[in-house]
This record gives sequence, C-alpha cells and structure tokens, in this order.
Amino acid sequence: MKVAVSFLDSIDIEKTIKEIDNSIADYIHLDLMDGEYVKKNNINSFNINLLKNTTKPIDIHLMVNNPIKYLSLFKDLNVYRITVHINTVNDFTILKNKLKEQNIKLGIAINPNEEINNYLNYLNDIDSVLIMGVYPGKGNQKFIPEIIPKINAIRAINSHLVIGVDGGINKDTIKLLPKVDYIVSGSYIYHSSNYNLAIESLK
Ligand code: DX5
Ligand code: ZN
Repeated sequence: MKVAVSFLDSIDIEKTIKEIDNSIADYIHLDLMDGEYVKKNNINSFNINLLKNTTKPIDIHLMVNNPIKYLSLFKDLNVYRITVHINTVNDFTILKNKLKEQNIKLGIAINPNEEINNYLNYLNDIDSVLIMGVYPGKGNQKFIPEIIPKINAIRAINSHLVIGVDGGINKDTIKLLPKVDYIVSGSYIYHSSNYNLAIESLK
C-alpha cells in the first residue's frame, strides 16, 4: 500500500514538504482549494515553486470548480496523478484527454455523502477512485467510518481500479479499512516527531 502525505494545514508548509520529500512517503499530496467548491482558498496563495524540485511524485487533489483551468499551474511539476470531484468538471472528455497527453493519471474523489452509483459511468475511464474519509476542505478532521462499505463496493464493481482513502487516517483508523491501494494522511504524519515511523505504522 502506498502512502501519500498531505501538508494541508501544516503550520510550516515549506519545512513539511521537505520532510515529506526526505521520508519514505510514496507521494506528496497537494490539496488545492478555490474558495468556491469548498470554503477555503489556497490556490491563489500557494507557492507552487515549493514543489518544483522535489524528488517524490506529486499527487494532486483539486477541490476547485472547473479544474481544467488550473492544469497549466502544474506544468513544471513531477505530477503522478490528479484527482478531481466529478461535479466540478465541465467537460470530462477534455480533462481525460489532456491528462492522458501528459501521462498523468486521473482520479475521481467521492465525498462521504455521495453514492457510488452516481459514478458507475466513469469507472472505466479513470485510473483511481479516492474515497473521502472526511468532508473535503480542511486537514485534521475526524474519520467518518460510514464510508468504509464504499471501498468493497467499488472493488466488487471494478477490480482493476486503484482505490485510495483520504482524510482522518492515523494508526487507529487505518485498522478499520479493508485493503486499499493507497491512503492519504496529513496531520497524523506532520504532527509526529518521526515521519518515517508514522508512515511505517500506516503501511
Ligand atoms: C481534506 C484533504 C485531505 C486532508 C488530509 O480536504 O483532502 O487530503 O488534508 O489530512 P488529514 O490526514 O489531516 O485528514
Ligand atoms: Zn486531499
């Protein structure tokens, strides 16, 4: 299982990014918000250069309306995957083709109050599903265990999809999850004194 580490709501983002990059994390998870799809906005203030020279691939989670308009921001980054919330996407085919051209994987995030039935049409066109363990918009929230059945349900529908869980993951809540391909964890890691031990405890 891969671990993507988020730095959203860390008090020293620059230092946290460096520590994630020097750790055994598999990806650096970049959460970007536009103040429209979710309340907070960091997309105008976040200094994208902080991620330019990292060695780890970047796993981007866009909590924004019309994600296509932001894609050019990432042109100098080593982007592995971009995950979007499907109801923010105006033209899914354009998004899919643009990412394919750039060899970037496409994921769809499913919020705790969203049913997987609404996503069935997309599952063959995407690389991954990110099941949200919290409502998107901020770090350090409590994991919502009611989302757990969605993991097995998606696995049963499409056994090839990469499945991730994002939000509220720590050494206790990880034990509640069935096998997944990756998890996103932020505050549990950046509040720990040893990133590698914390990541190890999730793996
Ligand atoms: C929530 C974000 C998550 C979050 C993870 O909107 O998408 O990536 O920051 O952080 P923790 O592990 O603190 O919930
Ligand atoms: Zn995220």
